[in-house]
Amino acid sequence: MNLVFDLIAQLALMGVAQTANKTFYMPPQASASAAHVDWLFDLILWISVFFFVLIVILMVMFIVKYRVKDPNAEGPRIYHNTPLEITWTAIPLAIVVVIFWLGFKGYMDLAVPPANAYEIQVTGQKWKWLFTYPNGYVDEILHVPSDRPVTLVMTSTDVIHAMYIPAFRAKTDVMPGRYTKIWFDATEPGTYPLFCAEYCGTGHSAMITEVLVHGPGEFETWMDEAANWIATMAPEEAGLKLYSMLGCQQCHSTTGAAGIGPTWAGLFGSERKMKDGSTIVADENYIRQSILEPQAEIVAGFDPVMPTFQGRIKDDGIAALIAYMKSLQ
Ligand code: CUA
Repeated sequence: MNLVFDLIAQLALMGVAQTANKTFYMPPQASASAAHVDWLFDLILWISVFFFVLIVILMVMFIVKYRVKDPNAEGPRIYHNTPLEITWTAIPLAIVVVIFWLGFKGYMDLAVPPANAYEIQVTGQKWKWLFTYPNGYVDEILHVPSDRPVTLVMTSTDVIHAMYIPAFRAKTDVMPGRYTKIWFDATEPGTYPLFCAEYCGTGHSAMITEVLVHGPGEFETWMDEAANWIATMAPEEAGLKLYSMLGCQQCHSTTGAAGIGPTWAGLFGSERKMKDGSTIVADENYIRQSILEPQAEIVAGFDPVMPTFQGRIKDDGIAALIAYMKSLQ
């Protein structure tokens, strides 16, 4: 009985919550297509509720009304009733055709991005999202303008992830070896959670970030500053950010711990023993060469496995990394 009361209370709550532009299940709508998704979901829900109630009431009424009073009596032989059968076939058919039509229309609207949409490249990886903007700037938070449609062109470097932004009612799988797209028209400036909605390993639940919707005109200002982010930060801080963004930390520790490459702790200014027996002092020029031409000098005890970062890092980035290394003494 408690269950029934809970259900009634939940249904009542849904009605109330609707008015606040959010539903019982979902956060406030923040994209142009969210309203249609919620409306269609509610339509299907309430049709289901209507038929559930109708069927249960009729069932109980029939149980009472047609209860067998004489256990030996044979009931009337009823084979079929054509008008009734046509009715209970035609009405549900019409309802599901309408639901299909509305659903298919909504799906096509969500699946086909408008031609003038702003494009952002998305990479899913264990366990974070990277967003690459047309000018090459990379961020771990998704920044979007509020005054124009945005398309995400998404792929994965490892397993299947799923892009999920509840406030936009947008969700699409992100797969290795192919591109998938999702688009939305953000209507409300603000910050909304962005999740991975496909179980992708131990860090799946931590694969969370944010969408930051900039107000009209503010996106361009942000983009100009962001593209120049190295200049706006202290060099050591910028170096630390690059250390994470470029993936240096996969091979180089900053604690002195052993790795695929030499640790950065105490590296700057130290004397390095090379594979060919020579000794080099790790100064600015040595670090710069090691980043751009990693195969030129190999430290004794390590394999020549580092890729070049030529083209992936500019002079200000190298200077920031050197500043960060100097701070690790
Ligand atoms: Cu990525 Cu779950």
